[in-house]
Amino acid sequence: MNILGVSSEMVPYAKTGGLADVVGALPRYLQRAGHDVRVFLPLYDKVDTSALRFEKVVDELDVRLGSHTYRTKILRDADNKTAYFVHCPVLFGRGSIYGNAPDEHRRFLTLSIAALMTSQRMGFAPDILHCHDWQTAMLPLILKTQFAWDKLFASTRTLLTIHNMNYQGGFSSDILPDLNLGGSEHLLHQDLLRQGRINFMLHGVIYADGISTVSPTYAREIQTEEHGAGMDPFLRARSSTVVGVLNGVDYEVWSPETDKHIAHHYSADDLSGKEKNKQALLTSMGLPYVKGVPLVGIVSRLASQKGFELIPGVLPALLAKRDVQLIVLGNGESRLEETFASLQRAFPKQVVFYRGFSNPLAHMIEAGSDIFLMPSRYEPCGLNQMYSLRYGTVPVVHRTGGLADTVQQWHPPSGTGTGFVFDHHDTHGLRWALSTALQTYRDPAAWRQLQANGMAKDYSWAAQARIYETLFSRLGS
Ligand code: ADP
Ligand code: GLC
Repeated sequence: MNILGVSSEMVPYAKTGGLADVVGALPRYLQRAGHDVRVFLPLYDKVDTSALRFEKVVDELDVRLGSHTYRTKILRDADNKTAYFVHCPVLFGRGSIYGNAPDEHRRFLTLSIAALMTSQRMGFAPDILHCHDWQTAMLPLILKTQFAWDKLFASTRTLLTIHNMNYQGGFSSDILPDLNLGGSEHLLHQDLLRQGRINFMLHGVIYADGISTVSPTYAREIQTEEHGAGMDPFLRARSSTVVGVLNGVDYEVWSPETDKHIAHHYSADDLSGKEKNKQALLTSMGLPYVKGVPLVGIVSRLASQKGFELIPGVLPALLAKRDVQLIVLGNGESRLEETFASLQRAFPKQVVFYRGFSNPLAHMIEAGSDIFLMPSRYEPCGLNQMYSLRYGTVPVVHRTGGLADTVQQWHPPSGTGTGFVFDHHDTHGLRWALSTALQTYRDPAAWRQLQANGMAKDYSWAAQARIYETLFSRLGS
């Protein structure tokens, strides 16, 4: 199959969260399976180009959006033939991947349209156009209107993968001219338009041939009022086309046997390296290492999705009462940054908060922590809990979305389970799960069993990419 992907993030080029990990891995696995996969993303100024070798694909490509014209250049990574870049400094040279400037919609419309125009230039007829999140969700409609004349796309089927329903790309209807819809404006959702709004995600949900999201539980959740963020009626109307495909893990990047960011490699057979990583991590973060004191790790965007509002009601008492340490890596909303900064001020020997984004440190925390905390309010899939399982780091999670699908509650009598899962998103739930985890940590045999159960889980992309292949072929038939 010819597969055209379009995304705002992709590892190793541009990342704010799990979308980048998914788009960095899935195309590689599909390509290995024999498909021709080409993924387009913006060449942000943040992309570290120092080690990249670019090949020119199209020298000058003018993308017209209403009265605006953007001159772009299309490049490809010579060492990773799946990655295509749209170079347009006026749009993508802004120091950050996302923003809230009035032309935010034009940044991702340009990306979307440039991908189709470049396909035309390359004579690349996609069987599948794989769109990710709101940034590329207008593509199914764009394909059916602006590009309908071109036979190149005659058999192209579209799949919209929803990584997070709470980011929908909602804009004022003032942007209408930028959509180049000409005589097809009636295809926009009319009620919303009358209210003066245009919602990118909604048009993906209406017009994509297939809709997927990143875990089976989240696929059910977003069809309910509680988690649908207003999109649930539209998803329910297309229920038979909505599927949940759990994300995979790129074990070539996230494995304690080979991880290039950790000092001591280890495996399920010999965990001694894990303790050394813990010691190294604590030392580098300026915390004392005392054998037997459990270390809790957090690596996260600090957004309300992640449920850290529960922290002030649980952690201070726990830290005061028990020998336990906490390392937090994250950035985002300032009130949540302050939650962790104040915890560090109150417990300087037990807590370190590193405010920022650091991929090496994320790996070191996965390897060096005993427990990984993800109290997410909602979680479409979540990757860190799956990374944690592979690193023998026991996840403590809220039972929601992909967390519910990938972490099983520890059950002492049978010795089964991989972590600690709380049902109700409140301080009682979190306190129970964390205290039970810390209690279990004191029993080395039980802990080793828990670690072994988690490390034996296989959430590799090899299996998940095959599910996408089946989905793609079903769309084509
Ligand atoms: P989300 O996509 O909602 O942020 P995921 O669990 O799917 O959540 O993926 C998060 C990814 O981003 C993981 O690879 C995680 O390690 C990484 N990450 C999040 N915050 C940071 C940070 N501050 N520094 C480094 N990596 C981070
Ligand atoms: C989103 C979700 C996260 C998911 C990631 C990759 O950012 O918040 O749960 O793992 O996308 O699909």
